[in-house]
Amino acid sequence: MTQPLPLILDVDTGIDDAMALLYAAASPDADLVAVTCVAGNVPGEQVAANTLAVLELAGRSDVEVALGRESPLLRPLKTAEDTHGPRGIGYAVLPPARARVSARSGVDLIAEEARRRPGELTLVTLGPLTNLAAALQVEPRLPRLLRRVYVMGGAFRVQGNTTPAAEWNMQVDPEAAWMVYRAWATALDADPTIARPVVLGLDVTERSPIRPDHVIRLARLAGSRIDDPIARADGEEPLLPAVPAAGNPMVRFVADALRFYFEFHAKWDGFYGAHIHDPMVVVAALDPALARTQAVFVDVETGSGPAGAMTVADFRGLTGKPPNVDVATELDGAEFLGRWVTRVGALALALYPPDAG
Ligand code: RIB
Ligand code: CA
Repeated sequence: MTQPLPLILDVDTGIDDAMALLYAAASPDADLVAVTCVAGNVPGEQVAANTLAVLELAGRSDVEVALGRESPLLRPLKTAEDTHGPRGIGYAVLPPARARVSARSGVDLIAEEARRRPGELTLVTLGPLTNLAAALQVEPRLPRLLRRVYVMGGAFRVQGNTTPAAEWNMQVDPEAAWMVYRAWATALDADPTIARPVVLGLDVTERSPIRPDHVIRLARLAGSRIDDPIARADGEEPLLPAVPAAGNPMVRFVADALRFYFEFHAKWDGFYGAHIHDPMVVVAALDPALARTQAVFVDVETGSGPAGAMTVADFRGLTGKPPNVDVATELDGAEFLGRWVTRVGALALALYPPDAG
């Protein structure tokens, strides 16, 4: 096996961010160097508390967790407790982590680690781009210093999920996104060999929802007794396993976090399942061949009109501007979910074997 890929995850933990953290912790091909936290789904301090607690659940209390920006660059913070629950992890409850947040800021961590390990680190952003934009102000050479950047954000040929034009991570801080894509465009003008950010928008992250049967498969892989799944009133779709039957703490966390997300999607999207956007990006970062991409010039609308926070992709080359982003156009969703279930299930079994009582 090649060397594990050194990763920094930038998160706004959130339910799907938590699923991404579990996947990273469960992946032998990932070297999780650090996690930086940004305000988004919930306020920054709650993001940090959730991230520390999820990493402890996953046996990774050793990973440095640093809190970055607690508000967007210019705008007041908007959060999404309706989507992710009052504390950002759905119905799940986790004990406070023993580990403490780092003394350095998440913004400084990104700049300092990129300087210390030039060309080695892959940054995966799973929330608003505020921390990366702020880190670019600290260290403008980041496009050259980072090995690669993977972004969860945007909607390129599909509608937004927050407004008709905007995806959530872009909507929270459009100025940050604008700065990031412009910074890479400028860096690429000077050095076309720089790796363009790989961006997974809703075009790919909303194609393969996770469903109750994935959670039940996860529970079984983890050795949990699923002896009484609750059948839905309509009998069509089994709900998540009865949580008390899932004796495994990681399965219980996944089941309770996702149950909230499933109810949100059932209400707003008409299906009992969930788009877990963020882990898809970690899967793609660890296995770039999984996603098909198209190099394209992307700009971000920062106005306050109906197109505000829209990621505008020049697929036809009408602007004449060279590509600054690799936009993901296809990704094998079944493969993504299969890997997520298999790896997280194996981690849950390893950390909390059923005979441990
Ligand atoms: O639009 C989906 C993105 O917004 C995901 O990163 C989710 O966690 C939320 O932050
Ligand atoms: Ca997120």
